[in-house]
Amino acid sequence: MILKGKKGIITGALDENSIAWKVAQRAHAEGAQIMLTNAPIAMRMGEIKKLAEQTGAQIVAADATSLEDLNKLFDAAEAEFGKIDFVLHSIGMSPNIRKEKPYTDLNYDWVNKTYDVSALSLHKMLHLLYQRDLMNEWGSVVALSHIAAQRVYDKYTDMAEAKALLESIARSFGYHYGLKRKVRVNTVSQSPTRTTAGGGIAGFDKMYDFADKLSPLGNATADECADYCISLFSDYTRKVTMQNLYHDGGYSMTGMSAELMG
Ligand code: NAI
Repeated sequence: MILKGKKGIITGALDENSIAWKVAQRAHAEGAQIMLTNAPIAMRMGEIKKLAEQTGAQIVAADATSLEDLNKLFDAAEAEFGKIDFVLHSIGMSPNIRKEKPYTDLNYDWVNKTYDVSALSLHKMLHLLYQRDLMNEWGSVVALSHIAAQRVYDKYTDMAEAKALLESIARSFGYHYGLKRKVRVNTVSQSPTRTTAGGGIAGFDKMYDFADKLSPLGNATADECADYCISLFSDYTRKVTMQNLYHDGGYSMTGMSAELMG
């Protein structure tokens, strides 16, 4: 029970494939009290209610791009928990990817939306948490990223920049929040994972198989990602901050593998 007594907010649990879904289940199993949130539109599917029942969590709808919605979310969290120990940012969406716009022909209104939803939302959350002083000392904020922030993936289009921005925000805010309240902020760069967001990338299955063959340990699953996030919320990683942490079975360090060479 390494999260016993801790209280956290988990964003982005859309259905049982979502990485956030697994993190919520694991956090609950490790003794944490959690609050679930997702965009109002994502609530319509109603799946999240099952997770809320399983984990005894309240659900608060919030569009993560809206400061007003986020303030209401944090009002609810403050009323239920007082201060918060951990937050999972598990939010990503690109209208350009959804509408199959190639990188060389992006729609810039959609680019702004991609950045706002997938990266600035982390800044907005941290901004309000910081200004309202809502986190306990040694609290932990984790956001999920992808190696397209560092390397080219032809079909990842504007999500590549969104992830680079997300990682930079985690680094910069990690500095300021560390000074103010010893709160740590990290990104976890996860293997390709079969989820709604992941499956939205063109050629996902081939990318998944390629990564699986390149990684000496194979792709990291959503459940394994949840385990890693839990370790980052726990007191065993109190001096880990401002990092982008690869959780990818060794993929990011491998140039070529025997399995791929055949
Ligand atoms: P998912 O589709 O289950 O989760 C994405 C979530 O973002 C959904 O719950 C969606 O409702 C939420 N969302 C979208 N717009 C929102 C908004 N305006 N306000 C609040 N929430 C909003 O997919 P997955 O894969 O679990 O994605 C979680 C995170 O993991 C994302 O940041 C994604 O980029 C990242 N990631 C995913 C990988 C994959 O292959 N699936 C690999 C590496 C990172």
